[in-house]
Amino acid sequence: MADKTYRVAIIGTGGIARSHARSWAATGRAELVAAVDINDDAAQAFGDEYGIPARYTGHEAMLGAEKPDIVSICTWHGTHPSLTVASAQAGVAGILCEKPMAVNLADADAMLAACRESGTQLAIGHHHRFSARNTEARRQIAAGAIGAPHMLRVAVGGGLTNNGTHAIDGARYLLGDPAAEWVIGQVERRTDRYERKEPIEDLCMGLVGFEGGARLVLESDMPDGGLNAGAARLGGLQVYGTEGTLTVGDAVTLSSPRGAAVDVDVPADTNQYDELLAWMEGGATHRNEATNARATVELMMAIYESARRRGLVSLPLDPGPSPLVAMIDDGSLAVEKPGRYDIRL
Ligand SMILES: NC(=O)c1ccc[n+]([C@@H]2O[C@H](COP(=O)([O-])OP(=O)(O)OC[C@H]3O[C@@H](n4cnc5c(N)ncnc54)[C@H](O)[C@@H]3O)[C@@H](O)[C@H]2O)c1
Repeated sequence: MADKTYRVAIIGTGGIARSHARSWAATGRAELVAAVDINDDAAQAFGDEYGIPARYTGHEAMLGAEKPDIVSICTWHGTHPSLTVASAQAGVAGILCEKPMAVNLADADAMLAACRESGTQLAIGHHHRFSARNTEARRQIAAGAIGAPHMLRVAVGGGLTNNGTHAIDGARYLLGDPAAEWVIGQVERRTDRYERKEPIEDLCMGLVGFEGGARLVLESDMPDGGLNAGAARLGGLQVYGTEGTLTVGDAVTLSSPRGAAVDVDVPADTNQYDELLAWMEGGATHRNEATNARATVELMMAIYESARRRGLVSLPLDPGPSPLVAMIDDGSLAVEKPGRYDIRL
């Protein structure tokens, strides 16, 4: 099978789609057959740029005519569920859908159900799982390099569902994907803030309790914590254990109370595109297999739900619409400074 070439279509031809196009080309096993965008100019320009012959303004026409083996979904968050479901129902064998998987848990479940039904292999673009440093950090923690991990601290900005999804998914990866047992969080939304057409909070924080006792402390858009400022302030992402601390920054560094800090060797890693091909050819799994992303959506929604209930949320969370949207709609998160704006415009 290693010489098989796959027909790949890209839906959504904006910023991240360019990374998908280059990465599929780099596998040496993908033929980019179609580009789809609701904006025809964008689809045409993208097709010209990457030598993609067929361009469409609607995914249904593309799926029917091109019969792609693989679809990369590179559109705004809110469209990921319907495009995934449509692709699965059209018989697409493999999907790489960008993060966040969905902006509510019911939609994530609909994606999983459709792919289960059609036998489609669905991976979500949480590419932090393919950072060689994160993979080595996960290996070190699993090998007991810091004893039992008891706290992981991460700070991001730009919206929980946008960059918080990377932070939570990356934290789960480092800790070996333990089950989460509970979440407590707080959310502020005094301004009418959106990101890629979805409502987001001004700031939030969450504390997650995992089985085995580890905690995740997440700050999102907290004061003095921009996209990378939080990590910079902390000298990288920190995992504290009973016998030492691991930091993932420019290197993977182990420090213990008894010895000097040491940087560990970081072997090269594969990428999410080659791993999807391997998974479609019988590989055991994909590290971004969508049930992992579903767990991340659940934690994001549990932070919102905790703010809604003003208390601790025991997991599993009932699948449903976004508690953030519920709070906006029922007035419990009333905007104090009117004027809708999108942080990316
Ligand atoms: N993995 C990462 O680190 C990473 C980085 C950037 C973006 N992303 C994700 O990728 C997605 C896209 O982000 P972007 O920055 O490329 O956005 P973008 O605005 O640059 O591009 C999105 C494109 O999708 C098109 N589109 C929207 N709805 C569509 C539909 N139903 N059918 C076809 N085309 C449609 C838009 O016209 C636009 O051209 C987001 O969900 C974002 O979170 C992930």
